[in-house]
Amino acid sequence: MHTIRFRMNPSTHLIPFLCLLVLTAGGESANQKDMGPITCVVQTNLQLDLSKHGLVKVPSDLPWDTQYLDLSYNNITYLYKGNFGILSELCVLKISHNSLKDISPSAFQDCPRLQLLDISFNALKTIPDLPLTSLRFLDLSENLYNSYRLGESYRSLVNINSLALGSPWARSVKVTDFSPLSAAPLRSMQLGAGHEIDGYELSSFTCLLALRELTLKMSFCQKPEVLKDILQDLDKIDVNTLTLIKFVPNQCNVSRDIGKGFKGMNGLLNLTFKDTWFSSSVLTKVVFNIIQSSVQTLSFLNITFAQDTSEGVQIHSIPGYNNTVHLKVLSFDTIHHHQYNFPLISINATLFPHLTHLKFSVTGISIIPCNLISALPLLKVLDLSDNLLHDHGLWWPACSFAHVFPSLKELYLRNNKFKNLQFISNHTYEMPSLDTLDLGSNVITLRKNSWPPHLTNLALSSNVLGDAVFDHLSPFIQTLNLTQTGIMQLTQNNMSQLTALRQLFLSFNNIKSLPDDLSTPQLVELHVDQNSISTFHQRAFEGLTGLRRLKAGNNPFACNCDLYWFVTSFNKTLLIDWPLDYACYSPPDLAGMALEKYLPSRLSCDPWAQAAVAVMTILVVLTAAGAVFYAFDGAWYLQMLWVWIRVKRRSHQRAQRLGEAFEYHVFISYSQKDSQWVDTQLVPYLEGEQLKLCVHERDFTPGHWIIDNIIRCVEQSYKTLFVLSNNFVQSEWCNYELFFAQHWAMGIQQDSLVFILLEPIPADSLPKKFLKLRKLLWQQTYLEWPGENSHRQTLFWTRVKALLKVSHQSTTLERVAKEVEPELVRE
Ligand SMILES: *[C@@H]1O[C@H](CO)[C@@H](O)[C@H](O)[C@H]1NC(C)=O
Ligand SMILES: *[C@@H]1O[C@H](CO)[C@@H](O)[C@H](O)[C@H]1NC(C)=O
Ligand SMILES: *[C@@H]1O[C@H](CO)[C@@H](O)[C@H](O)[C@H]1NC(C)=O
Ligand SMILES: *[C@@H]1O[C@H](CO)[C@@H](O)[C@H](O)[C@H]1NC(C)=O
Ligand SMILES: *[C@@H]1O[C@H](CO)[C@@H](O)[C@H](O)[C@H]1NC(C)=O
Ligand SMILES: *[C@@H]1O[C@H](CO)[C@@H](O)[C@H](O)[C@H]1NC(C)=O
Ligand SMILES: *[C@@H]1O[C@H](CO)[C@@H](O)[C@H](O)[C@H]1NC(C)=O
Ligand SMILES: *[C@@H]1O[C@H](CO)[C@@H](O)[C@H](O)[C@H]1NC(C)=O
Ligand SMILES: *[C@@H]1O[C@H](CO)[C@@H](O)[C@H](O)[C@H]1NC(C)=O
Ligand SMILES: *[C@@H]1O[C@H](CO)[C@@H](O)[C@H](O)[C@H]1NC(C)=O
Repeated sequence: MHTIRFRMNPSTHLIPFLCLLVLTAGGESANQKDMGPITCVVQTNLQLDLSKHGLVKVPSDLPWDTQYLDLSYNNITYLYKGNFGILSELCVLKISHNSLKDISPSAFQDCPRLQLLDISFNALKTIPDLPLTSLRFLDLSENLYNSYRLGESYRSLVNINSLALGSPWARSVKVTDFSPLSAAPLRSMQLGAGHEIDGYELSSFTCLLALRELTLKMSFCQKPEVLKDILQDLDKIDVNTLTLIKFVPNQCNVSRDIGKGFKGMNGLLNLTFKDTWFSSSVLTKVVFNIIQSSVQTLSFLNITFAQDTSEGVQIHSIPGYNNTVHLKVLSFDTIHHHQYNFPLISINATLFPHLTHLKFSVTGISIIPCNLISALPLLKVLDLSDNLLHDHGLWWPACSFAHVFPSLKELYLRNNKFKNLQFISNHTYEMPSLDTLDLGSNVITLRKNSWPPHLTNLALSSNVLGDAVFDHLSPFIQTLNLTQTGIMQLTQNNMSQLTALRQLFLSFNNIKSLPDDLSTPQLVELHVDQNSISTFHQRAFEGLTGLRRLKAGNNPFACNCDLYWFVTSFNKTLLIDWPLDYACYSPPDLAGMALEKYLPSRLSCDPWAQAAVAVMTILVVLTAAGAVFYAFDGAWYLQMLWVWIRVKRRSHQRAQRLGEAFEYHVFISYSQKDSQWVDTQLVPYLEGEQLKLCVHERDFTPGHWIIDNIIRCVEQSYKTLFVLSNNFVQSEWCNYELFFAQHWAMGIQQDSLVFILLEPIPADSLPKKFLKLRKLLWQQTYLEWPGENSHRQTLFWTRVKALLKVSHQSTTLERVAKEVEPELVRE
């Protein structure tokens, strides 16, 4: 049993990340061009890749909304009705490289949206019936059926655009094979599995009226006349692109004229030979016929060349051909040489007056004959990449190159052995139209040189050049490829001389940072990926106002605050490789993390935010402290502390004055709200007893701070009398007075406090800060006012008098302490 892990996450369905699907099917049968017809837009989160999972049947628990399902490289044998029953959204299904033997016609009946079906490389013994009206791309190649006959159900493929068929057992094409598709919009077809063709019934292809591109993967060594019949039919239905894969097998010796069918074709424009053997005699005959047709683009891709005639390939003239050769593009890409000797190829280049593109790649040539290239006056693009050419192999010293490439615009010399940049740059002056020169992957050495103004696109990539390369460039260059050239440093000096530069490619170098003073507003595209850049400074981009594309991934980014602006505020639409190629390299604990995910809090990186937060924090702390302060009577204690300090100071001064007489007998502390009782009862009574009173307000010195007044009164009074009531408890000033008097009493006049309780105060109702008062109330060390009209009033007043009336002469602390009733204040 295998467990299948779905890549889909249901929650991500909510974030529709749309992307146009780039499809790649297995096998050679499907190339990028064939994918054109798919019209469904597949969401990345609805793609399911179950390839190489060892499956033996289609899993039954696939998410119903799967749009793309890849089951290739498994071991699934059968597809039945219901296998894809619930996948009503399925658009792309790949089951190539399995061991499918049979597919039920109803297997896909509930997948009405299926547009691409790849069942190549399986073991199907018959071509299955697939009545899929939406199907646009169907690959049935590399199976085991023995004929190409399509069933009547193929009439329902009304949208089919591309079809691939091929089986080693199906070697002939019958006139009825494709008739069910006669009304279909089939544009592109591939046929065959690389074997010799047995037969072709005339007009087999002519029913495919929409066909424009045909790929025949079959050999015509034994029956070359079959090719003539096929080509004849293709011309009738305007096929313009023909690719012949394995045209002839290795060692094929054809005596008859295998290419005769090409001569006179007038619809074919593109012709490609791929993966095939060519002897010089066959090649001569084929090319000779092709150039007498409408073909404009002729390509040879991965061919093996064997010289079987002593004169090699010889094409000098075309007897009896009155038209000019239409060939515009001739391309040889990858030629294997069967023999070790140089092949003999002799072609009269003046036969090809319209040739504009010539490619000669991976051929092993080391010398280009100067008479060949000089005969191609209209040549615009010459691609000699991937050969063994050196400086003199292209510019042979014996030749004059004065008027060699009058129209040449692009010269590709990648991956050769070119060396002397001065020599090459000298010769670019001989090509008046040359604007693009690619010298990548050579062994270029720098010497003093100069470039013509017409050369605007220069590639020197993959050469060992170093920073010195900047001394060898021209101000006319617009596009410069210095990928992998060992550059360590880029400076504003270096950039400022490249005044026309619009595209600069510096990937795969060792640049550590972009200069801060970069001022290159004309620069549109910059690649600095795969360097040693650890951070980007905002200033570096301020001078790059014209920048539209930046590739900067795969650098060792230091994920710290310096990069914060880049992650958060840099315009990511400029980044062509974001976010995949951006990862943290340091610090070690973040190494490997996607830069996109590196989101330091704004706080940690933004100084303004830091300042704002600091202010906020201080405010919060202060508020909290304030709240605590308020809740725990902080202000009160603070004020008391202040009072205490003053009292201490004054008591020190007072110590010398102890012998002096007091100014008052009694200081009365009471709440303003109890003033009625004090004014009408207490004060008249006490004054009637000849006691001198300091009464709050009346005897306070105006203009003094109230606390000073209180302190003065307490100090100048022999006794302090407190009128306790609920009002008193709530009065702030009274509390000061009590506090102060208590401490005064503690320090100097232990027994100077007298308390009158005007009304009951539950001791528990008092705030904790009135510790002493609570104690007093508990200990009942007070005189209780018996209330109005009580006969006990007399006793009360007597006791008050007794407590207050002490020897007027007593002045010293010791005396006073002894005379006062000891129970009043106990600490
Ligand atoms: C595929 O399954 C068949 C039996 O259904 C088995 O014989 C064969 O070995 C399997 N092939 C692979 C490659 O696992
Ligand atoms: C083709 O001819 C060569 C020699 O000319 C011979 O060695 C080779 O076997 C022949 N190939 C076939 C398939 O007949
Ligand atoms: C011929 O092939 C070339 C290269 O594959 C392609 O660019 C061109 O569009 C083709 N021309 C036609 C008419 O299909
Ligand atoms: C080149 O062609 C040969 C057959 O002639 C084939 O075996 C080989 O795989 C091909 N190479 C590529 C890279 O397609
Ligand atoms: C090359 O072709 C041109 C034009 O078709 C012809 O005039 C010339 O004679 C040919 N040269 C040779 C050597 O056949
Ligand atoms: C080419 O032109 C000549 C006379 O100008 C004529 O005799 C000959 O038949 C023509 N050939 C073709 C293939 O049209
Ligand atoms: C390039 O041209 C300059 C002057 O035109 C000449 O002095 C120099 O020798 C030439 N270099 C090479 C390598 O041909
Ligand atoms: C620059 O050169 C490198 C290496 O030769 C190549 O891979 C890349 O495609 C080139 N870049 C451009 C934009 O042409
Ligand atoms: C390139 O920059 C380096 C370092 O600033 C400097 O030495 C060199 O002269 C510069 N080259 C050019 C052509 O500006
Ligand atoms: C980001 O760059 C793109 C392309 O240059 C531009 O269209 C877009 O307005 C820019 N967005 C912002 C927010 O600057």
